[in-house]
Amino acid sequence: MPDTILELKSIKKSFDGKTVLEDMSVEIYRNEFITVLGPSGCGKSTMLRIIGGFEKPDSGRVLFNGEDITDIPPNKRSLHTVFQHYSLFPHYSVADNIAFGLKLKKKSKEEINEKVKYALKLVNMEGYENRRPDSLSGGQQQRVAIARAIVNEPEVLLLDEPLGALDLKLRMEMQRELMRIKREVGITFIYVTHDQSEALTMSDRIIVMNKGIIQQMGDPKSIYDEPQNAFVADFIGESNIIDGIMHADCLVKIQGKDVVCVDTGFAPDEPVDVVIRPEDLVITPPEKGFIEGIVTEVVYEGAYYDIRVNVEGYEWKIQNVKPVMCGDKVGLAVAPDNIQIMHKPGSEDAKITVRDK
Ligand SMILES: Nc1ncnc2c1ncn2[C@@H]1O[C@H](COP(=O)(O)OP(=O)(O)O)[C@@H](O)[C@H]1O
Ligand SMILES: [Mg+2]
Repeated sequence: MPDTILELKSIKKSFDGKTVLEDMSVEIYRNEFITVLGPSGCGKSTMLRIIGGFEKPDSGRVLFNGEDITDIPPNKRSLHTVFQHYSLFPHYSVADNIAFGLKLKKKSKEEINEKVKYALKLVNMEGYENRRPDSLSGGQQQRVAIARAIVNEPEVLLLDEPLGALDLKLRMEMQRELMRIKREVGITFIYVTHDQSEALTMSDRIIVMNKGIIQQMGDPKSIYDEPQNAFVADFIGESNIIDGIMHADCLVKIQGKDVVCVDTGFAPDEPVDVVIRPEDLVITPPEKGFIEGIVTEVVYEGAYYDIRVNVEGYEWKIQNVKPVMCGDKVGLAVAPDNIQIMHKPGSEDAKITVRDK
């Protein structure tokens, strides 16, 4: 059994009559790196602010180590938040910025010095003690913000899009740094991002959210390989999502052709969403595929070719290591276990399947 450190129980929150979180329940385990992933405006920051104590839920409870902290103010929670816009004090040195919380707690000078030194080393910023924040790059300022959080030894670190303001190369570097810091300090990280590749890279578990509702929870591989609905499939990487009819167990009709799959338990002839990843489609001679179409686009992406094939008006996305020519007639094949069948949103079965795995 995983050890639960934090629990949200039926959290509801609206602003101006608009629902932002709809009955959210989730358990967060001690020492995991968990990412809340979803498009802008889906309620991620609101969820984090409720955990941090900056926002009160309309109903529902927040439990921390089994204790109800819903009405406890932020500074009394063993949590620390790092925001995208690291609010460092501009007139303080780096060391004084990091020491701020410890000074408030009236720690001794020796203890403060030692902890500041450790924190600077942890974020690879030794030697920057006396610098002012405005003389640092964005990435360095964010490291200081993280050091300032870590030095207070919170049990949980909340990070709200902390790398959002950095350019891609620096962001990727900081992702690795954060993973290393996480390993070294061994505390729980709750990380918010709208960037799916960031979530897949860094997390032990991902919570995919849309419109204030958890769509799926699980480890990165299960989220990527087995998305539970078309939203998750589309949001996590590129996918082909096409209407199908589930004839019977393991037999789905796609664009008029019967195709063998591995999914079972659907109603006879239930309309479904069929999801196939671009890298799982194989280009074959026309008669060898389950459908055939015309190549309309071929773009070289370095490791593979990004190809579009038009089949009766639907543009299939395919990633292939071998090139084809625009105008070629080709077939498309897919292994049965690379076909994901999903209930249509709103169908009775789709409503009950937020499964944690
Ligand atoms: N204090 C607030 N007052 C009014 N509306 C808010 C407030 N905070 C957030 N919202 C609204 O709630 C929705 C979710 O916001 P947010 O949690 O910030 O989303 P995300 O972090 O996923 O982008 C948005 O529509 C936003 O405008
Ligand atoms: Mg946000």
